[in-house]
Amino acid sequence: MRNVLTISGLKGGTGKSTTALNLSASVALYGKKVLLVDCDPQAHVSQWRKTDSNGNDYNLAQVLAGRIRVPDAVYGTDIDGLYILPAGFDLFSISLKLSKHMDNEKLVRLVIDEIKHDYDLIILDAPSSCGYLSLAAMTAADWLAAVVIPNENWVNDFYSLIRIVRYIRTSHNTPLGIAGILFNRCNSEKQMEHRAVPEVLEQIRPLIYKTMIPDDEMLDKEGASLSPLSLYDIKAQASQAYLGIAREIIGSFNLK
Ligand SMILES: Nc1ncnc2c1ncn2[C@@H]1O[C@H](COP(=O)(O)OP(=O)(O)OP(=O)(O)O)[C@@H](O)[C@H]1O
Ligand SMILES: [Mg+2]
Repeated sequence: MRNVLTISGLKGGTGKSTTALNLSASVALYGKKVLLVDCDPQAHVSQWRKTDSNGNDYNLAQVLAGRIRVPDAVYGTDIDGLYILPAGFDLFSISLKLSKHMDNEKLVRLVIDEIKHDYDLIILDAPSSCGYLSLAAMTAADWLAAVVIPNENWVNDFYSLIRIVRYIRTSHNTPLGIAGILFNRCNSEKQMEHRAVPEVLEQIRPLIYKTMIPDDEMLDKEGASLSPLSLYDIKAQASQAYLGIAREIIGSFNLK
């Protein structure tokens, strides 16, 4: 079962967390059971989960420390079928300890392996950079979706990510694949072609999702970016785009 998708990219602020959150919600709105795993101590996609009726407030840090079992750190949301395994700032301190041993890059994968059969799709939100948590989130994945914005040097950024994919495949013997390149804050094909050498663009075009996420000021508003836009305005262009990407993913992952 290859149903674990990490939303990644080495540059900061390209919209990985916003995409992970809205895409997870959109796939769940199509009736699939989805787990969103927050692998970033900034915990941007965690804040919206429902609280535990027993008052527990666990996150990935305690799971990685071996203090609790994975299902104990999974919370429901206001969308049927969507669950969150949150992060917390304590993920930062545990990641410093775990980063000292290369073998620990596989720990998030071991956590996900325990529960991957309980969900149709598991989406991980990875932090930027090549630090421990990004590598662990990518090592946990069967597939990566790279989020890029067109006004960056996105082609070089993407090729750097490919180098890391190769490192993970050889070091950890995982079948990590590229699910696709997702253009965020992009309103036209022209913008996408910005700064890309045409021959290079043609080579990687088959990997680019057909749906692009437009720039939408609703996503930039405080609060709106912490919960899925579809809950505020399902007809917004960006909500419709996330639903479009969700359909592409449901199709390519062959989710029944
Ligand atoms: N399509 C969009 N339209 C408008 N604003 C957006 C869009 N996508 C993301 N944003 C905004 O851009 C900012 C950065 O987004 P986000 O936090 O998702 O990026 P990130 O790649 O996860 O960042 P980091 O590297 O820190 O993890 C946020 O304020 C978010 O609301
Ligand atoms: Mg983020």
